[in-house]
Amino acid sequence: MSKLMKQTQTAKKYLWINGQKVETNSYSPLFSPYSGEEIAQVAMGDEEQTKEAVTAAYNAQDIIGKMPAYQRAEILENAVTLLKERSLEAAEIISLESAKPIKFAKAEVARTIETYKFSAEEAKRVYGETLPMDAAEGGIGRFGYTVREPLGVIGAITPFNFPLNLVAHKVGPAIAAGNPIVLKPASQTPLSALFIGEIFKEAGLPEGVLNIVTGPGSAVGETIVKDERVSMVTFTGSPSVGIGIRNKAGLKKTTLELGSNSALIVDKDIDIDTLIDRCIMGSFSNQGQVCISLQRIYVHEDSYDTFINTFTEAAKKLHVGDPLDAKTYVSSLISKKETDRVLKWIKEAESKGAVVLTGGSLQDGILEPTIITEASSDLKVSCQEVFGPVVVVNKVKTVSEAIKLVNDSRYGLQAGIYSSSLENAATASRELQVGGVIINDVPTYRVDHMPYGGLKESGTGREGIRYAVEEMTEMKLVVWNQR
Ligand code: SIN
Repeated sequence: MSKLMKQTQTAKKYLWINGQKVETNSYSPLFSPYSGEEIAQVAMGDEEQTKEAVTAAYNAQDIIGKMPAYQRAEILENAVTLLKERSLEAAEIISLESAKPIKFAKAEVARTIETYKFSAEEAKRVYGETLPMDAAEGGIGRFGYTVREPLGVIGAITPFNFPLNLVAHKVGPAIAAGNPIVLKPASQTPLSALFIGEIFKEAGLPEGVLNIVTGPGSAVGETIVKDERVSMVTFTGSPSVGIGIRNKAGLKKTTLELGSNSALIVDKDIDIDTLIDRCIMGSFSNQGQVCISLQRIYVHEDSYDTFINTFTEAAKKLHVGDPLDAKTYVSSLISKKETDRVLKWIKEAESKGAVVLTGGSLQDGILEPTIITEASSDLKVSCQEVFGPVVVVNKVKTVSEAIKLVNDSRYGLQAGIYSSSLENAATASRELQVGGVIINDVPTYRVDHMPYGGLKESGTGREGIRYAVEEMTEMKLVVWNQR
């Protein structure tokens, strides 16, 4: 048992409302998805406490909304400094509660630091624009400009797969834009969120600006989504929950970052050795529990055999085991239920003629990195979001055929293409129906200031700090009549 696990074990974790730790009537044990050991007792917030959190945020609107930009930036900069000092602790918390291998947990902390840095910078760039009013005859003698004003209380509901950085993608821009927040972290990963609550308290964020309510989605999430004092709901998670939120949110603004079955096209005339490491990372990092995980690969027939052999050999070498072991590349999925589901999907594929080239079984309860070929497009492993360490590789004759197959999806988050043909890369960038096209890399690519979001069932709205700040502010027009 690690030192951190000893410390956190049976530690009671409270709600964080109006700058105070708040007790609840009930606590639920939190278990490590890898070892099954209890790692904390987590407060189960209810409807009433969630409303208290919304009240605290609502009352803090002016405090953060009227705070000068340089002060909001300073608080975010302080958080960056504190997070840097406690980065190893943060990585261990992520690893412990989500079974993310420590090397990827450390990478997530590094990204989170950048996300808050970008947020500090964007706090100083909440621009409007002047308008050429005299472009219309009726505008002559008028002076017009826009300003961006804070939206109000932001309800944030975050997933388990990046428990620190996807919280940062909501908390960072909300503070940059001058908004208070009520955050409901994923049930399996409350510890990273509560840790960030401590960081912001020390960073000088006024009471009530960040409120964290742990507990069941049916009580906490629903209350946030339905409360009329909440101006916007920003959610990252599954399409089914996202659609439910959209239906219940009424006239609130909603940003939904949902799933995908992201694809990569590998054209002919590519040196396959140069892309295998990226395909391994894309398919298997964080056990495939990434919205832009590489799930489908369409390889030109000229390169197919080389690709499949090299890729399979590389996957077989990945170390499977304890997330806190530095050697580990693949560890447990978030729950046994999810492991069973993914195994079932693999079995379904096999029973319908697909071929499992490697993986497909459990190693000490951990699902091995799995590569499947000859899977038809109607199988779950092809057309639904697997959210596990599973990738399907198919042969194509042309890039156009591959583009059609990529687009034949209910999702549209990101797609990648490796090609040495400028024309094929340009065609792909034009024709792929996704929020982001990544040329000469896998779709599993994100740096935290780029616009990120999708089409179709992959969601609505964009994250990436500048874009999230835009979503979290309201444009106001001012027109002066110069009499
Ligand atoms: C996600 O899974 O939605 C986020 C992926 C990332 O930030 O890398």
